[in-house]
Amino acid sequence: MEPETIHSAHVKHGPIVRLGPNEVSVNCLDGGVRTIYTGEFEKPFFYDQFQNYGVLNMFSIKANKPHAARKRMMANVYSKTFMQSSEEVREMTRLILFERMLPAINLHAASGSSLEVFEFNYAVTMEFINSHLFGVSNDIDFIQHVEMRKRFLDWYYKRSEHDFWNQELPSLTRILRKIGIHLIPKSVHAANDKFEGWMLQLCRDIRESLETTSDTAKARTQPVVYNQLADALKGSTTKTEASTYSSSEELLIASELLDHVIAGMDTSGYTLAFLFWELSRQPDLQTLLREELLTLSPPLTPDHKSTLPSARSVDTLPLLHAVVMETLRRHAAISGPQPRLTPSPPTSLAGSPPLPAGVRVSAQAYSLHRNETVFPEAETWFPHRWLDADQGKKDEMGRWFWAFGSGSRMCVGSNFAMHELKHVTAAIYTNFTTSIVDDSGMDRGDANRAVPTGDELALKFSPVR
Ligand code: HEM
Repeated sequence: MEPETIHSAHVKHGPIVRLGPNEVSVNCLDGGVRTIYTGEFEKPFFYDQFQNYGVLNMFSIKANKPHAARKRMMANVYSKTFMQSSEEVREMTRLILFERMLPAINLHAASGSSLEVFEFNYAVTMEFINSHLFGVSNDIDFIQHVEMRKRFLDWYYKRSEHDFWNQELPSLTRILRKIGIHLIPKSVHAANDKFEGWMLQLCRDIRESLETTSDTAKARTQPVVYNQLADALKGSTTKTEASTYSSSEELLIASELLDHVIAGMDTSGYTLAFLFWELSRQPDLQTLLREELLTLSPPLTPDHKSTLPSARSVDTLPLLHAVVMETLRRHAAISGPQPRLTPSPPTSLAGSPPLPAGVRVSAQAYSLHRNETVFPEAETWFPHRWLDADQGKKDEMGRWFWAFGSGSRMCVGSNFAMHELKHVTAAIYTNFTTSIVDDSGMDRGDANRAVPTGDELALKFSPVR
């Protein structure tokens, strides 16, 4: 069931709604989000679809204990402290912004043509996540190598087609495939194989280059996440855990990192599309934002391209923060349900009678972010709500803000995403103004992921000086 439909049911029936014979949605914090996501509730089979190579990764591991062990292996290289103190992250950010993203936008601006930012944003976010995993590579550059990114996106789009069968009937889909009945077209499997093959080869190349150290020129920064995971797997405890997934270490790493590429690319990509779209409709807000951005030292202009302002100074700019938060609120990238299963013994939710074990329960950002008491005129994109509020109100908004989920299964990449969204926005609006050329594709479909239906947004970028 889709977010808007579920939301209408909550508006009509209150904070707890039965969606089906064995499925419940909640829309409250106490007895709702807090009970489900910070308790013993584990993930249902719905998440099996996110395995790669048939191997579990952090996102698809259902049970809490093995999940916690996996998350511990990598969480520190995605932490806020790491984002703000790592020289690798700083250099990666500098290279992507000044050597890849801004020059590509400059070319468009100089030619007077509009830029389709939907695909362009995917290229930028792929470049960020890929570089954090494997280092900034001279060979892979999704921003400037248009053919490379089109091939990659083609696999990605194909792979996410027909996902109903894998989501809701994974066992039946697998069994029927074995006897030659394909609920999912063969072309989807072919695209998936290519995608997985690409990642496996990338992992092999990195391992080889690290082992031989002969090819260091290929990567200009360290493969931070790859190194972290490979090192963590060298420990004996984690080896045992890895072997319980009956897969080789190589496939475990590839399954994990392919998931990070996908999770890191699409959510951040269309969040940026919505952010640019909203700002493009408010030239005065762009002016205010630019005034704030120019207080950075040094500013994010090409004449200061050899050094970046501290990540912390970018992170703490109030209006930039408000613009990003409001976009994540109003256009939450994963706006639909994040399902979990009720544990044993039976648990009551939002005042309900105790629910037996095994009921699929969920909350969704779409509804939590439309609580009119917390976010008045919730349908309006209004960044100043994050600036004008007193501390008590800000705390309340923070409690209801759920773009990255909460609890132990909360997005591991949330700090990375905030770092990237803020730096990309800051670099663009320091140097350009944007205006809409064609936004006819920006209607939000009623899907779990808030992808605009048209997948297209054409903007004009005008240099500010
Ligand atoms: C705007 C950007 C992003 C948004 C809105 C977002 C949102 C979310 C949400 C809501 C979840 C929980 C989903 C669920 O339980 O069903 C999640 C989980 C996850 N996200 Fe993100 N995400 C973003 C960026 C990223 C990035 C950059 C990465 C890169 C590593 C990432 C990796 C993951 C992973 C691995 C999980 C699973 C965590 C776990 O199960 O412990 N995400 N994300």
